Amino acid sequence: MLIHSATQLLTIAGGPQRGRDLGELGIIEDGALLIRDEKIIEIGSTPKMRAKHPDEPTLDASGSVLMPGFVDPHTHLIWGGDRAKEFEMRLEGAHYLDILKAGGGIISTVRDTRKAPLESLLSQTRSRLMRVFSTGTTTAEAKTGYGLQTATELRMLKALLTLDREGPLELAITFLGAHAIAPEFKDDPEGYTDHITETMLPIVSDWWETHAPRRQSKPFVDVFCETGAFDLAKSRQILEKAAALGFPLKIHADEFDNLGGASLAAELGAASADHLVVTSDEDIENLANSETVAVSLPCTPFGLAHCDYTPAQKMLDAGVILALATDCNPGTTWNESMQFVLALACRSMKLTPAQAIVASTINAAYAIRRDDRIGSLEIGKQADMLILSVPDYRQLGYRYGTNLVKKVIKRGRVYSVDVGYYQTA
Ligand code: NIG
Ligand code: FE
Repeated sequence: MLIHSATQLLTIAGGPQRGRDLGELGIIEDGALLIRDEKIIEIGSTPKMRAKHPDEPTLDASGSVLMPGFVDPHTHLIWGGDRAKEFEMRLEGAHYLDILKAGGGIISTVRDTRKAPLESLLSQTRSRLMRVFSTGTTTAEAKTGYGLQTATELRMLKALLTLDREGPLELAITFLGAHAIAPEFKDDPEGYTDHITETMLPIVSDWWETHAPRRQSKPFVDVFCETGAFDLAKSRQILEKAAALGFPLKIHADEFDNLGGASLAAELGAASADHLVVTSDEDIENLANSETVAVSLPCTPFGLAHCDYTPAQKMLDAGVILALATDCNPGTTWNESMQFVLALACRSMKLTPAQAIVASTINAAYAIRRDDRIGSLEIGKQADMLILSVPDYRQLGYRYGTNLVKKVIKRGRVYSVDVGYYQTA
């Protein structure tokens, strides 16, 4: 299939973009792109490509931006129940970490998720994933972490593997048994940390070997490094054990308190450190000297009605690799759309639309270490892309609240998501 006449074709070629290099879109005007067998075969200008491939089936992208699909490198997309009541409590003055301490927050979703059978988890998550896909995300990371006990964590992993196999949204799976202290270990965080390292991680490692498809590399292991969750020493214990078992690493750090989690991630060679709101200059320097991607989640402070965001400009000055993600979860931010993340990143962190787009595509792909396959439009890469209903990339970020994606193309298959009309019953 030849997609042609794109007003702007954004290739975002050349790999992840570090520091002030962020924002190179590699635009081809009146661009065309040839797809075969789920892959990108050729890219160029429309007149040349049409002349070269006169018999190829075509898809007209005139008046549109053609760009790589969004990669969302941090989500908690699978859970049971909701937390609308807590949203109201927070608006009335309660703090997120105090609700967690009182046995609510993450623990309340843990209760609902433990109760949910596999089929129910699958059906709740499936409809969520369809909405994610229809807003232009073609690959999303997705974490467990609402089980905090082996059986439920494995059920979540199983559901995520099933949903990844079903598609069309591709998933990068993360084990987050260290999301909160399990209720059974309420007054014994050391005990739960030992339970994770000595029991859960080895079980997950063996389970993955037998249940995951052969091509699927090991899931990431993530830790919520935060006051009231896992302190720095416990985070280190978990991540070092995970690394020894061959898991790639991620961390939640500096969402509320600075405990040094970002520097720990850099030291251990983690793929990413995420949240990064109260990150210190020293942490920023350590990230800048590493391959650990800083994943900023601006919807989280927005969702919590807090005022502080990732110090993105400082990070770019220092030479950090910056990416963006939704953090979609039932507690802090139930937002499924990367388009809204871009709009918020532009305003809260003063990213330009071009910088926000790169942070949501190739840099986001690097945060899940799939940049060799997705995140840009380059020859040999998977044919994952979007046709927008607008002719200028700056409309992303500028506009928000409506879906600017007209078609999503995943592994070469075209999905129309913008019906553009409504019918009465
Ligand atoms: O990334 N901070 C920890 N985890 C999530 C929130 C999860 C929840 O509240 O259910 C986050 O914001
Ligand atoms: Fe998170």
